[in-house]
Amino acid sequence: MFYETKDHHGLKHNPFKALVAPRPIGWISSQDTEGRVNLAPYSFFNAMASDPPVVAFGCNGRHMAGGVKDSLANIEATGEFVCNIVTYELREAMNMTSTSAPRDVDEFEVAGLTAAPSHLVKPPRVGESPVHLECRYLQTVNLPSDNPADPNNVVFGQVVGIHIDDAIIKDGMIYWPSFHQVARLGYMDYTVVEKVFAMDRPSWPPAG
Ligand SMILES: Cc1cc2nc3c(=O)[nH]c(=O)nc-3n(C[C@H](O)[C@H](O)[C@H](O)COP(=O)(O)O)c2cc1C
Repeated sequence: MFYETKDHHGLKHNPFKALVAPRPIGWISSQDTEGRVNLAPYSFFNAMASDPPVVAFGCNGRHMAGGVKDSLANIEATGEFVCNIVTYELREAMNMTSTSAPRDVDEFEVAGLTAAPSHLVKPPRVGESPVHLECRYLQTVNLPSDNPADPNNVVFGQVVGIHIDDAIIKDGMIYWPSFHQVARLGYMDYTVVEKVFAMDRPSWPPAG
């Protein structure tokens, strides 16, 4: 099949997000200028550069109270956030923090998570997560939107500090069998990293 995205796809559900999958989940903690903490998952999330490390996430649509979602509002106001990495063990807690809660609700409390202090930024880390990326806000890029009330924005942050639980390090490398990262497929489906294979980069000209 082929469809132009300005037309209807003709399927039961929009397939787009199921096609660009799996997507890692940035579990973003931030806080507002009064120190109120916020935590929410974002699967339009990825690493964009490594020297220095930069991450980005897409913050789309509006908050239940109108305006942009808390994560974007907080990060633009304070310039800091943390990306916590979601594991299989944390899947239910992560999902719970996606609730459309009023602005003053602390999703750490909602999901019974430990707010661990960060080293370089004010927003706390999810203590139960094995990896945290402490980030300083770089910029927001405003994307086209089909509905002006539902803005699409991409938030970029430079990673200034990284925490890694020693339990997922083996022989100086991240040990996938202990990590269990969760990623989002389409619809309500998720996946967990279980099958890993390696490939060497080819040299030029190709061998043979
Ligand atoms: C697994 C998962 C991934 C999500 N990814 C995104 C995303 O990439 N962008 C987005 O705007 N909302 C995403 N959401 C919805 C937000 O988490 C939800 O709107 C949340 O309430 C936003 O919280 P905030 O206003 O505290 O930032 C996702 C939800 C789940 C469960």
